[in-house]
This record gives sequence, structure tokens and C-alpha cells, in this order.
Amino acid sequence: MIPANVIEDIRYRCDIESVISSYVSLKRAGSNLKGLCPFHSEKTPSFTVYPETQSFYCFGCGAGGDVISFVMRTENLDYVAAVETLAKRAGITLPEFGDKQRDDGVTRTRVLQMNLEAAKFYRKMLYDDNIGAAGRRYFVDRGLSMMAIKRFGLGYSPPSGNQMLKHLTSLGFKPHEIQTAYFAGKSERGYYDYFRGRVMFPIIDVSGNVIAFGGRVLDDTKPKYLNTSDTPAFKKSRNLFALNYAKNTDAGYMILCEGYMDVIALHDAGFGMAVATLGTALTDDQARTLKKYTGKVIISYDSDEAGQKATSRAIDLLEKAGLETKVLHMEGAKDPDEYIKKFGKEKFRSLIEESRSKFDYVLANTAAKYDLANDAEKIRALSEICTYIAGIHSSVERDIYIERAAKSYAVDRKSLENDVNSRMRRLAKENDKKRRGELIRVTSGIADRVNPDYAKQPKAARIEESLLGILFIHPEYIRRTVDGQALSAEDFTTSLGRRLYEKVTEAGDHFSLGILGEDFTFDEVSRASEMVAGRNELSDNSETTYDTFVRSLRKETQKNGNSSATLEDILRRKRGELS
Ligand code: UTP
Ligand code: MN
Repeated sequence: MIPANVIEDIRYRCDIESVISSYVSLKRAGSNLKGLCPFHSEKTPSFTVYPETQSFYCFGCGAGGDVISFVMRTENLDYVAAVETLAKRAGITLPEFGDKQRDDGVTRTRVLQMNLEAAKFYRKMLYDDNIGAAGRRYFVDRGLSMMAIKRFGLGYSPPSGNQMLKHLTSLGFKPHEIQTAYFAGKSERGYYDYFRGRVMFPIIDVSGNVIAFGGRVLDDTKPKYLNTSDTPAFKKSRNLFALNYAKNTDAGYMILCEGYMDVIALHDAGFGMAVATLGTALTDDQARTLKKYTGKVIISYDSDEAGQKATSRAIDLLEKAGLETKVLHMEGAKDPDEYIKKFGKEKFRSLIEESRSKFDYVLANTAAKYDLANDAEKIRALSEICTYIAGIHSSVERDIYIERAAKSYAVDRKSLENDVNSRMRRLAKENDKKRRGELIRVTSGIADRVNPDYAKQPKAARIEESLLGILFIHPEYIRRTVDGQALSAEDFTTSLGRRLYEKVTEAGDHFSLGILGEDFTFDEVSRASEMVAGRNELSDNSETTYDTFVRSLRKETQKNGNSSATLEDILRRKRGELS
């Protein structure tokens, strides 16, 4: 755990207004500040910064927290790394805490040290006359240049002898640390090397740390790739391969691929703006990360069915993150790597230039899916296109697409337009219904993902949230006695509420929303800051208000406690346990 006074010092010196201002342009609105939310795309500002409580909250997407949570989100860092970043900014030298103990006592720093040593070791093995011959031959066969091998720091993991384990142990790392960093597995017979006989691809973050590895077999054995799973220094869903290089190119766009080999081949052919996800589908976090470094992404996934499915999903995620998105269309090769080998880099450059907008992609996709010579199928294809157009907000854009679709399908423009309009009316109705349903669900607490207990006793849960909101602003109230007793964990009905209460008790006057980042999820931290935002909008957060809430919460819990006892009785009676 990082000492509370250190966190407090950092928060004090990193004023939320000045930190957020370096990411978002803020305008004063009363005693608060407003700006366009960096966590979702919006046109009117609903992102609010509260200097008084040193917190932020977005009324659009619900993201919220304090200066630490803000840095965690925008820089995609975990709690400790965010604290380190802010400390650096404030010129604070951190005490030993930087090496905070994780779940199993292994720290981020230790893992990063191991990663660096491992990268050096794998590289050395690749160049080793005997051990590395197979790996070197593999890279040569795949047409990699010496430059690419060096630039990406590629390596080779020895096939036998648990040499990585021995190497890291000799440097003073403990077997369980080596296992946490994913260089060793453990069986009944003890620890063994995780990566064996594979060519190794180090994954490097934007600050230049080696954070993980991918390792490919040299033949057709399965699994083709082994990857580092999440460690204290690595989160798969947040990082992108080769972003450390791509971020420095000034092409004005990035190319998003599926595979390590695609990226390496592209960089080798002069397309240094290529990046790839790490063996998983694109995530929200990755889309947001991309948005920080570029305004436009060209998706260049595999041409097979899986690749095309993933493309549709990626388009949506990237657009949601506010990126201009295009799709590269490739024929005659399964992936960019193969395409360049077969047709050369100039051909690939023309593919980039000809990459399709989302609408072209939809048009081409439907055309490929249906037999347009068949009337029934053509109608189905058109109906799909109309649905797509009906979902677009801008009427100018809709107009252009209707025109294009009418031309390419040789149908009457006016009737296509009518179809789109009637679909829009239906969509509006459905949305209306959905919104109303959602409202009911939210107010009654059903399907509350973040606080699943909310629905059980909504009234108590509502009081709990107000009470916690006040406590987050005035943690010193926790010492107050109300009717002879201080607030206690038993007074809470939801487990989120209870956990939050316990955290405030633990931190005492040192409490800040940011420390929640240590054991609470982003969504939970956001919910907590929603509670603060709710109180920020009101003026009365006095001790008397606090006392009143404590009393009402107790009353509710008691009432419900009794009523649940009766419910229990009814059930037992039903089961015949009570006469
Ligand atoms: P591909 O099989 O398309 O990878 O999988 P590739 O890089 O083109 O591999 P080559 O050309 O056959 O050498 C795409 C990505 O999915 C992940 C890897 O990140 C790979 O780069 N993957 C694939 C795995 O994590 N595990 C696997 O078993 C296969
Ligand atoms: Mn490939």
C-alpha cells in the first residue's frame, strides 16, 4: 500500500484543474469547470471538474474520480503507475513504496526488470551460434530483414534446459516472481520455462518499457503463439504492439492489423504507422489509446471471415472513440504480410490510398453477401443498407449515401429515401421505448452492473449513496456519533456501499477518490465520484445533513431487516419447517 500521506501530498501538489487542463480545454462555469469529455465523444461539454472537491465527473458517460483516476484513465496506467507519473510531475521523490507489494508480493518494478533481462537474454540466444540457428533460419525464411530483427528486438527462447529460469534466478529473482511475470510455469515436478523453442516478440509500451512477450512456434504446432498474460506491469487489453514506434510517425493515420508479423512486415516495407492488438479483439481502451496518438485509423485485418467480422466490430469501437475510420480491402492474400510478399509495397500503398469509408465497406460487404441477380436477395441487401443509413444522424450524410446506394443498385432514389425514412421512424419509436425501459430499470435499480445490490433495497441504497457522497467530501464526519453510535458497516445494505465505507474508515482524513483506484474498478470509482458529483451540485453537506442521512439509513436497514425476516419465515413455512 502506498502511504496515505504520500498520496495526499501528490494530490495537493497536482491540482486537478491544472492536470486536466493539459488534456482537456476547460471553461469556467460558476465555481466549476466544463469541457468536452476525453472518455467519450461528445459535442456539448458534460465533463465537469470540481476544484473544491478536487474531483471530476462526466454527466454523459459517467466517468469520474480524482486526479489519480484521471491519469489512470487517460494514460492507461494502473494505480501505482499513475501515482508515479503524478509524483514525477510534481517533483516528488517517492519513498520505497514505488515497489508496492502486489497480490503475491511481486511488484511492477520487479516484473519490468525481469522483462528487460529476458529481452536481452532472448536476443542473445537468437545470435548464439548453436542455440539460435533454428530461430534465425525461421526469420530469414519469413523474409525479415536484419534491420527489422534488430529494430523489434526479436529473440529466441531456448527449447530445453529451463535456461530462462536459471538465468533470472542467477540474477536474484525468485521462482514465484518469475512465474508471475510469465517466464515460468509450475507443475508437480517444479518450475519450468514458459516460452520454449519459440521466436520471441517483445512488446514495448510508449515509455519504452518491455512489458510483455509473444512467442511463435517455428512449425505448425499449436498454440501458434504464446503470450504473456496480464501481470503487474501489463494489461493486454490496453496495449498495442509497435505503438511505441507508430506514435512517432507523422503519416496522420495508423494502420491497425491483427498480427505481430503483419506489423513487422509493414514497418520493414516503410509503413511505420502499423500497430496490432495483442491476440485479442480490439477493446474500448485500445481505441481510446489510438485516439490519443492519431485522428484516423485504417483497419487492415485478415481477409478471411473472422477478420471481416472483427473489422465491423473495430469500425464501431474506433468511431465511438472519435476516430475517422477506413477499411483497407485486400484481395489475393490473407493478410498484409502475405500481400506485401506477393505484390510488393507499392501495391500496398495504393490499397491504403483506396481504403474504403465505412459506407463503402457496408455496400461492398452486402454486395458480396447476396446474389444481386436474384430479386429477393437484392431486396434483402437493400433493406440491410437502408437500416444502416437510417442509423446515421447527419441528414447530409444520409442523402449522400442514399444517392450512392440508388446508383450502385440501380433503383429509384425516391423510393429508397422513403424506405429509409420509414425505418427511421420505426427506429425512433424503438429507441423511445428502450429509453423508457432503461429509465425504469435505472430508477428501480434493476440491472445495475456496478452496484448489483441496489435493486434489493433501492430506498436504502439511495440514502447510502448520498451518505457516502458526503463522507467522500468530509471524511472526518466518520468519527461522528449519531444517537450514541458511529456509522458502521452493518448499516449498509449494498456490498459496494459497505466496501466504500470500509475504505473511508481505513483511510480516514487521508481519503481521496483516487485511492479507490487501488482496489476498485473504473466503474466503481466512477460511481463513487457520481455520488460526490451529486453532493457537489447541492450546497448542504453539513454535519446535520450527515446525521439525518445516518438516521434514515438505519431506519431503512432495520425496516428491511425485519421485512426480510418475514420473507424468510414465509419461505420456511412454505417448506413446512414452521407450522
Ligand atoms: P495470425 O495467425 O494472423 O498471426 O494471428 P500472424 O502474426 O499473421 O502469424 P503468422 O503470419 O502465421 O506468423 C493474429 C494474432 O493473433 C494472436 C497473435 O497476436 C497473432 O499475431 N494469436 C494467434 C495468438 O495470440 N495465439 C495464437 O495461437 C494465434
Ligand atoms: Mn500471418
